Amino acid sequence: MGIRTKIADEVGANAETVILSALFHDIARVWGVQRDPDLMDKSLETTEEIMARHGYSTAEIQAVKDAIIPHSCRDGMKPYTEEGRVLATADALAHLMTDFYFALWENHWLAGNMTFDDYVAWALKKIERDFHRKIFYDKWRKIAERKYNDLKSHFAQF
Ligand SMILES: [Fe+2]
Repeated sequence: MGIRTKIADEVGANAETVILSALFHDIARVWGVQRDPDLMDKSLETTEEIMARHGYSTAEIQAVKDAIIPHSCRDGMKPYTEEGRVLATADALAHLMTDFYFALWENHWLAGNMTFDDYVAWALKKIERDFHRKIFYDKWRKIAERKYNDLKSHFAQF
């Protein structure tokens, strides 16, 4: 059981909606689209296209899009469905609980055009947003807390 379905189960969210939104939320990166609004637009378009092709209803497609739209929690945006809160939480945990912040720099993916100083500043900001704005369940914030503190002190030393 993946972390997304585990959280979905705990809070009574629709697991299929959560899994599909996790799969599609940044799907346009596959074609090299890296920034919003293009990343969001193309990802939503692809979600609709693929789900429709596989016989999902308009309401099911909309539920997945509703989870995806606010998942970055940028600029005061907040998920407005339980599935959206699970997606945002799982997205934050995928950044905080893995080697995400190290791998991004090492493989030059996303961070390709940044200087190291720019990358550190960007990462520190994103780490804060992941921990403080994207995790919607206390239990999971507590689980992520040590990794959050470690990441923060790691990047703060540069
Ligand atoms: Fe993500």
